[in-house]
Amino acid sequence: MADKLIIFDTTLRDGEQSPGASMTKDEKLRIARQLERLKVDVIEAGFAASSNGDFEAVKAIADTIKESTVCSLARAFDRDISRAAEALQGARSARIHTFIATSALHMEKKLRMTPDQVYEQARSAVRFARNLTGDVEFSPEDGYRSDVDFLCRVLEAVIDEGATTINVPDTVGYAIPELYGNFIRTLRERIPNSDKAIWSVHCHNDLGMAVANSLAGVKIGGARQVECTINGLGERAGNTSLEEVVMAVKTRRDYFGLDVGIDTTQIVPASRLVSQTTGFVVQPNKAVVGANAFAHASGIHQDGVLKARDTYEIMRAEDVGWSANKIVLGKLSGRNAFKQRLQELGIDLESEAEINAAFTKFKELADRKSEIFDEDIIALVADESVTSEQEHFRLVALSQHSEMGERPQAKVVFGVGGEECRAEAQGNGPVDASIKAIESRVQSGAEMVLYSVNAITSGSTESQGEVTVRLQLGGRVVNGVGADPDIVVASAKAYLAALNKLHSKAERVAAQG
Ligand code: KIV
Ligand code: ZN
Repeated sequence: MADKLIIFDTTLRDGEQSPGASMTKDEKLRIARQLERLKVDVIEAGFAASSNGDFEAVKAIADTIKESTVCSLARAFDRDISRAAEALQGARSARIHTFIATSALHMEKKLRMTPDQVYEQARSAVRFARNLTGDVEFSPEDGYRSDVDFLCRVLEAVIDEGATTINVPDTVGYAIPELYGNFIRTLRERIPNSDKAIWSVHCHNDLGMAVANSLAGVKIGGARQVECTINGLGERAGNTSLEEVVMAVKTRRDYFGLDVGIDTTQIVPASRLVSQTTGFVVQPNKAVVGANAFAHASGIHQDGVLKARDTYEIMRAEDVGWSANKIVLGKLSGRNAFKQRLQELGIDLESEAEINAAFTKFKELADRKSEIFDEDIIALVADESVTSEQEHFRLVALSQHSEMGERPQAKVVFGVGGEECRAEAQGNGPVDASIKAIESRVQSGAEMVLYSVNAITSGSTESQGEVTVRLQLGGRVVNGVGADPDIVVASAKAYLAALNKLHSKAERVAAQG
């Protein structure tokens, strides 16, 4: 039997550290459910000690997820580790992941600790964690830039204390594949008890080599866990992309000789959900999940693919979850058909009230759009108004007038905590006029740092527009997403969704510091 490669997803922890990608508890839970459907082995749900919001999110995920191990990050302090253990109490399978920096630069300048102090703290943190759970991962932060002799000393000690996984981060994305692979191999060869732990790779993408470095860590170094994120989400240039690692190992099984437990047909839905939730658009030429990843434009390629698919395709689009845009429902579809389609798409709405709210929205959409695709249904249930009980701001009506050569005008009616509010304004375009109208009454003072529009189903102006708005206010960054066949309406919905998030302060999950 081939060895198994463990897929450790850190979209909800390291991915969330990306500026503007912080998520609410509900958003994290929705993504965690999709990661479970994807069959990832370990979900790093957050950093429980970093804020009450993150504690609650880790706890909710631990209480809900049954098929994947749920993990919380913790600095190498007893207090952080206890908090992680507390959040993970309800998990069927739990892991504590503790870390401390080991590079000379980090120890001296950031931690202001001597190597001996770091050694002792790493050791006692792992000992403390092992008393709380049997599954403990240790990471020497900035491990790749650490002195190899010192690193061997620390890692041998933490394995002695019972660390079951040793993760070697290339925290700043400095590694080169061959060198990183050899680094992991050297550690495994030199540390006498290295066979008592599973070795893991964790690479950042600053030089665009995160996936290559991770795969070299597996092939040359013998690592059997890869830490990665959906769409490569993460700080700066991001983390190792899950979909690329998984498809590389599966497609080139002849070379890697490893099994992965991932249900690859859930990759594209996971990519869409993360992109939609965070507002981070996937570039069209991104491997596996980009809109063009399986599109053949040149005549020669098209001809080849029609004659024999494998002339130009090394993977099948449907194997990673791309579905041809097929019409799934229409205006005459009933509640049962709608409910069944939700189930087939793996969307579990929690209550009958949520299903009813989604079905009402579906009917409204079907009245205006003749063909409803899976993507429309996914966008519809992602709408906050379906899943959150109370929206402070809610769009009621919008009209706008624009004519070439004239300044556009918009009138907006929206609910504010149960009261109805009317506003009108002019703007550079109808979207700008609508946002200005809302802002004239709300006066949030938030700065808009991102506005983007995408067609939900590609290839036609009949598609719904999906708008993402990112607002920044007093150090907080929130995303709002809205979908509608009318992009001015979608923009107003997205803006109000972002205002709702700013309004519900308690819900926000702080990114790891
Ligand atoms: O990049 C890094 O060093 C990390 C550790 C906390 C594992 O994310
Ligand atoms: Zn990292």
